[in-house]
Amino acid sequence: MLKLRSTLAFACLLLLSVSAMPLQAINIIPQPSEVKTLPGTFSLSGATALIPGRCTGEASQLQQALQETYGLSLALKPAAKNNYIRFSLNEKLGKELGKEGYLLQVSPENITITAATTAGVFYGIQSLRQLITANGNEYTIGAVSIKDKPRFGWRAFMLDEGRYFKGGETVKHLLDEMALLKMNVFHWHLTDDQGWRIEIKKYPLLTTVGSKRDSTQSGTWNSKVYDGKPHEGFYTQEQIREIIKYAADRHITIVPEIEMPGHSSAAIAAYPWLGTTHKPIKVPGKFGVHYDVFNVSDPRVIAFLEDVLQEVIALFPSKVIHIGGDEVKYDQWKADAGVKAYMKAHKLGSPADLQIAFTNNISNFLAGKNRRMAGWNEIMGSKLHEFTDSKDVSATEKLATGTIVQFWKGELKLITEAVSKGYDVINSYHAMTYLDYSYQDISLEKAYSFDPIPEGLAPEYHAKILGSGCQMWGEWIPDVKTMNHQVFPRLAAYAEDGWTLPANKNFTQFSNALQYFYTRWNITGV
Ligand code: ACM
Repeated sequence: MLKLRSTLAFACLLLLSVSAMPLQAINIIPQPSEVKTLPGTFSLSGATALIPGRCTGEASQLQQALQETYGLSLALKPAAKNNYIRFSLNEKLGKELGKEGYLLQVSPENITITAATTAGVFYGIQSLRQLITANGNEYTIGAVSIKDKPRFGWRAFMLDEGRYFKGGETVKHLLDEMALLKMNVFHWHLTDDQGWRIEIKKYPLLTTVGSKRDSTQSGTWNSKVYDGKPHEGFYTQEQIREIIKYAADRHITIVPEIEMPGHSSAAIAAYPWLGTTHKPIKVPGKFGVHYDVFNVSDPRVIAFLEDVLQEVIALFPSKVIHIGGDEVKYDQWKADAGVKAYMKAHKLGSPADLQIAFTNNISNFLAGKNRRMAGWNEIMGSKLHEFTDSKDVSATEKLATGTIVQFWKGELKLITEAVSKGYDVINSYHAMTYLDYSYQDISLEKAYSFDPIPEGLAPEYHAKILGSGCQMWGEWIPDVKTMNHQVFPRLAAYAEDGWTLPANKNFTQFSNALQYFYTRWNITGV
């Protein structure tokens, strides 16, 4: 009797665990929505044909990847009887799979990738690449049926080059890794106190002066040690165009960030009249939040910022333009008679109100050009910093509708405040997503546990969370090696946080699937 009972209990447990088990998992990052493994394998070889259909760009990229990774030369062909990889578009699938979903069918005879858009086909290819098993010169792919689509439409990685310029080859490498992980937004932090990195034709000093500094603080935040080494670098508009094209081929949108009104010392060093004091300053080599800020009460400064944005818009096709807006110290505004008079004339009660009114002007300017403004969550006027006086943030001004708030700091209830006021939010909560933080602070497992929808957020607001961003801030990241250490492997975790439904996430499974990436990163020197 006892034996029967325990057998029954065991059977029940087994049943329970089977029914609680989500779907089948597979070694792909990010983990797809639905996977069915099937009997048999497909043999990939130089004799396999690539049938591109309307996806020639995507098919060519797979052709190139197979050549580079395995030395396999596959030909693009209009048709084949068998032993092919076929790409096809079916707009009707958009209803079920959205703009980025795909179907991937691997049978022993052939492989098909179908999607509503070329982006979907591209993502099907990234899954397929991870399924190839190499055994000597034999390449096989287990038969499988995958239906997949992302949880969020915004899956971003941010690179800060204001602090240290890394250059186009590094950016392209990051774009390659993002693409394989199905990340679709490269948020490019191009200006900061310590450097201006984008050529603006109308204001050449931004780069001839603003992209260079004499020396840089080394160690950490309170260090008095400087390296004594000049640092410089910027992108010409032509170089930027080439990188935008490279990203677009990989279905990645580049969102440029031009910081205003704070984090603007490099620009003020180039043109001192942009600040309130008009005193010459040097491009600082010290990190941390600086005092110099744009004088937003001066129409000439507003015209300058609009000119800059005009050139930025002409370069970047991105619908979203990021204007920073974080960590503004109000001391210079509070000390300036002109700013004070402006605030009085415009009935702006606090410096935060002035910042919001300014931000709204910029967002209206961008809206007039059919663009959407994004900014860090300070743009809502909340008190996030010890250096901000409580009375300086009692903002009554309301941020323009359509603004995207990138949440990075403060209490999570601020997200509720933002979404309940109607703003879309990107979740980049610093304690979970900052890649400059050590692995002690954000382990791989902690990065993997990040849910862009904060716990407790009312379901009616979930759709207001556009997705997630992870941020490679550059203050103590002088070279590519240091950067790679911080970015990899955590980038893969953030990619899955943005793509995969929570029910399909499993850290052990994710760790197994990382093997493919470790092999790749060893070869590419990461
Ligand atoms: C930020 O970390 N200052 C957005």
